[in-house]
This record gives sequence, C-alpha cells and structure tokens, in this order.
Amino acid sequence: MIFIYLSGTPNSLAKGFEEKCGWKVLRPINKVFPDGEQYIRLPEAIAGNVAIIQSLYPEQDRKIVELYLAVEAVSGRGARTKFLILPYTAYTRQDKRFLEGEPVSTKAVYQNLRLFEIDTIVAVDVHSIQSLTSLGFKVHNILPHSHLLNAAGEKVDLVLAPDRGALPRAMEVAKTFNVPCDYIEKFRDRVTGEIRIDRKELNVSGMSVAIVDDIISTGGTIAKAAHALYNAGAKSVIAVVSHSLLSLESIDALSSSNISKLVTANTVSMPNNLPKWIQVVDVSSLICSEISKWVSY
Ligand code: R5P
Repeated sequence: MIFIYLSGTPNSLAKGFEEKCGWKVLRPINKVFPDGEQYIRLPEAIAGNVAIIQSLYPEQDRKIVELYLAVEAVSGRGARTKFLILPYTAYTRQDKRFLEGEPVSTKAVYQNLRLFEIDTIVAVDVHSIQSLTSLGFKVHNILPHSHLLNAAGEKVDLVLAPDRGALPRAMEVAKTFNVPCDYIEKFRDRVTGEIRIDRKELNVSGMSVAIVDDIISTGGTIAKAAHALYNAGAKSVIAVVSHSLLSLESIDALSSSNISKLVTANTVSMPNNLPKWIQVVDVSSLICSEISKWVSY
C-alpha cells in the first residue's frame, strides 16, 4: 500500500505515520499557476492500492480541490485509491438544509468522490457520519477523546457534552474512565450564529469536569459550557476536543472562559506558539492501529 500525503496533512501527523506506523510516503509535487489554480503531479510510478491522506483545514476549499486532483492523478497512473484518510472532514456540519434555500454542503462536497469509485473514508470524529454513509461511503470513524484525556493525565469526576449531538462522544469517554456523564442543551441562532444554553440544574459542585466535543471554531460552545459549569460550582473544567480550528479570537474566547486546559488532536495544522494550556496530542498511532484492523499494508 502506498500512502500519498497531500498538503493538508499536519507535519506532526505525517511524522507519526512515518515513524510510528512505518508507512511508505509519497508526496506529490505541488505548485500554483499564476492565475491561482492548483497543480499537482505524482512524480513516481505507482501501482496497486493507494491511500490518500488529506486534512481539510485550513483553506478547506483549496484542500478539497487538491484532494480531487490527487484522486484523478492516481487513477491516471493506473493505480486505485483504495480509501481516503481524512483526519478532518470539512463541510460536514451543514449536513441538512437548516434554512430554506441552503445547500446540503456535505453532499455538494463529497458526492462526486463516488465517481472515482472511492468507497471508504477513514476519518477522525466526523461531525455527521450519516451525512457520508448516506452518499454510499463506508466510514471508519475514529473517536480520539479517551486517547486525548489519557494523554492529558487529568483525573475527572464527570464528562459533559455541550449539546445533545456530542452525547455519544461524551458517553464513550465516561464509559472508558468509569465516571458519570451529563449534557446541556445548546441552541444556535441559525442566522446570527449566536449560542444560547438552556438553564439546567448541573450537579457538579466541587467536581473536575471534562467537556467533550468534536470541533472548536469560535470557541463559543466550550466557553458557554464552561461558564455554566463554573456557575454551578465546578472546581475545574477542561476541554477535550478532536479538531481545534484555532484563531486568535477563539484562543481569546477560550482563555477568558477559564478552562484550565484544552487537550486536542493533531488532525489539523495549528498556529505556532500556542499558549501552554493547549496540549496537542499525536493521533497517528490511533489512526494506523484502526486501519490495521481491516487492511494489510
Ligand atoms: C456543533 O454542533 C459542533 O459539534 C461544535 O459544537 C461547534 O462546531 C463548535 O463551534 P464553536 O466553537 O463556534 O462554538
């Protein structure tokens, strides 16, 4: 099996795949035409089964086009893309028409990959698995939260999902660490993006709580949940999140929420010089051990 690394693959993850998993690596030549269009070329002859790795953040749209170019280039070389490894799958949050006139973005972005006979996607914590399986993909979805919490070495008394959607993730962590699990109700205004958390009695007095979620974008969800927990008497709050799409603004929002730590996976490239309370954990071995369960390479 040949693994093709596209430009979205974070360096630390690629290093992990090479050093911990022993994957044979091929990196295409990339360039940008003067008009802004992307070009890639697979410099070596390849044969047989190929897996393409691409994380779709930052610059999601460019990373998606690069992925399409690579899939076509592989088929032009006479090889076959057996599966895609997408550590971060962009555009899966808009998995339905929330408002009249909106697109189903997941369908718009991923459906055409089926034309290249790609049938399997290996992903880390897809926001909506169903949005991909409904297009005919088989999805191996890897939940990293227990691995992250373990790496953080933090003892927690309770795991909290910041909305109902995150509950299966939180329950998996609660089961692994044998602690209780709870959730709060979050509502997002679909026009303004503003988040509201429903008042709910939280029995967290004196507890150390881990908030478990899939994505940080503005940081608003984690900040509001942390606020509710501290108001209810929590002793400390950490956030355990698969994909941190960090910006200066979201780092500020998280910092003012007083969480003591954010532990997150290296599924996307991060800004340099992160504050000390953000811990980035390598999940390469988690991904390759999952893949080795069903494919030999
Ligand atoms: C939404 O349903 C997701 O699971 C995340 O909770 C959300 O994307 C986080 O976004 P933000 O950081 O902007 O609140």
